[in-house]
Amino acid sequence: MNVVVRREAPESAAADALVVGLHVDEKRWPPSLIALDRRAGGQIKAVLEAEKFSAKVGQVTHIHTPALASPRLVVAGLGPRTGFVAETLRRAAAGALRRARDLGARTVAVEVFGLRLSDRERAHAVVEGAILGSYTFDRYKREKSDKLVEELRVLAPDRKAAREVEAGARRGEVFGLATWFARDLVNAPANEVHPNHLASVAEEVASEAGLTLRVYDRSECERMGMGAFLGVAAGSEQPPRFIHLSYVPARPRRRVAVIGKGITFDAGGLDLKTAEGMLRMKDDMSGAAAVLGVMRALPKLAPPVEVHGLIAATENMPSGTAFRPGDVLRAMNGTTIEIGNTDAEGRLTLADALCYARENVKPDERIDLATLTGACVVALGPQCSGLFSNDRGLARRLLGAAETAGERVWQLPLIDEYREGLKSEVADINNVGQRGGGAITAALFLKEFAGDTPWAHLDIAGPAFTERDTPLAPKGGTGVAVRTLLAYLTAST
Ligand code: BES
Ligand code: ZN
Ligand code: ZN
Repeated sequence: MNVVVRREAPESAAADALVVGLHVDEKRWPPSLIALDRRAGGQIKAVLEAEKFSAKVGQVTHIHTPALASPRLVVAGLGPRTGFVAETLRRAAAGALRRARDLGARTVAVEVFGLRLSDRERAHAVVEGAILGSYTFDRYKREKSDKLVEELRVLAPDRKAAREVEAGARRGEVFGLATWFARDLVNAPANEVHPNHLASVAEEVASEAGLTLRVYDRSECERMGMGAFLGVAAGSEQPPRFIHLSYVPARPRRRVAVIGKGITFDAGGLDLKTAEGMLRMKDDMSGAAAVLGVMRALPKLAPPVEVHGLIAATENMPSGTAFRPGDVLRAMNGTTIEIGNTDAEGRLTLADALCYARENVKPDERIDLATLTGACVVALGPQCSGLFSNDRGLARRLLGAAETAGERVWQLPLIDEYREGLKSEVADINNVGQRGGGAITAALFLKEFAGDTPWAHLDIAGPAFTERDTPLAPKGGTGVAVRTLLAYLTAST
């Protein structure tokens, strides 16, 4: 979808469809809607009244009228004036764009509607919502939908607003398309998206975005001592890859490592999952997909922060060469790990990635994103990520970024007493803990490798994938955490 900003009033915008917004209980309509209605001979008012359109958030209706410059008018409900936030706009724009698309519109003009918030914020939210809400994935279908919005025209009332709208629209476009990119990777099946595929995607991203890339193969990882990562990779026919992408601006203020869990398929290993438990496990590289989406977007946003994207990519498969329950693996920092369960593999790959970051990147902060535990889904449900951190400031800033992005994140505690459960008879640590609090013990395991420099862990096991259509994402991979991270890395603090 192409996004352009036009200095134009809604009445004169000539697109296939025009989208306008309306709040609940508007005593007086906004002037643009009054003008449109006058032109349409009162048809808009008549239809809204006949349909009892109440303008609830997400509610959408439309009118066909050749009297307007745009022959289809889509009205998006914006809910009540109080409680109006950016997320309201995203959802309204998402619903409206889907409607315009389904009506066959190829060009859609949209007002930067709503109250409060700055022009820039509203333009960002409208464009982001429009892009997120109109995502589809039909790569493997013979029949492709021919209904596609090709151009989104964002309308700005005057020259001053146009500059702000332009800035916001560009950001919204980058955030939205970065999320699409991550969704595509998650939705593609594991027979295509294997570790080497992730490496070649990283290569494309690097050359397209002008990033530096280093990819390590199995023997190089062996030389670096990544015994935990390679233990997980041992059972797979697909060779593992360790991916390191870097975005280095001219005068960076700080250096951040973002680490994405990159299990391209999690069968569980010898502790094999059930058929039902395995069904969705192509999404176990959602953290890696988010990291790739973020890295690709960074040069377009140009924050003064050096960012390193790290992915330890492998499958987790059962076979004669697979690692076994009871095995002892040695991580890059020398820590030995007893394998209590081969299905707790994400933390093993992340352990070595955390060590690698410390040694080779020496970042001020490390942030990992991982579909790490079913327990986190039990704790917070399918729409919320769990946040763990050894640093209050980092946690607070990430929560703020998530709020700005409209992604749900809730901080969970690192309860030191539960470290007991990870004790091993034969090694320094076990990869699984006691029963109960599984998201916490997984985070405590990672903390062991994070040491005492600022680190945060986002358990995205729930929201990485949605089983039903939601306002901003259809069924499938959601690209969660891309927007939170972009908001975080581009925030001025
Ligand atoms: N990839 C899974 C976590 C997961 C489960 C993500 C369900 C999304 C939905 C992870 O590797 C895993 O298998 N974790 C185990 C850990 C257990 C063996 C301690 C789990 O959560 O059951
Ligand atoms: Zn697993
Ligand atoms: Zn996993």
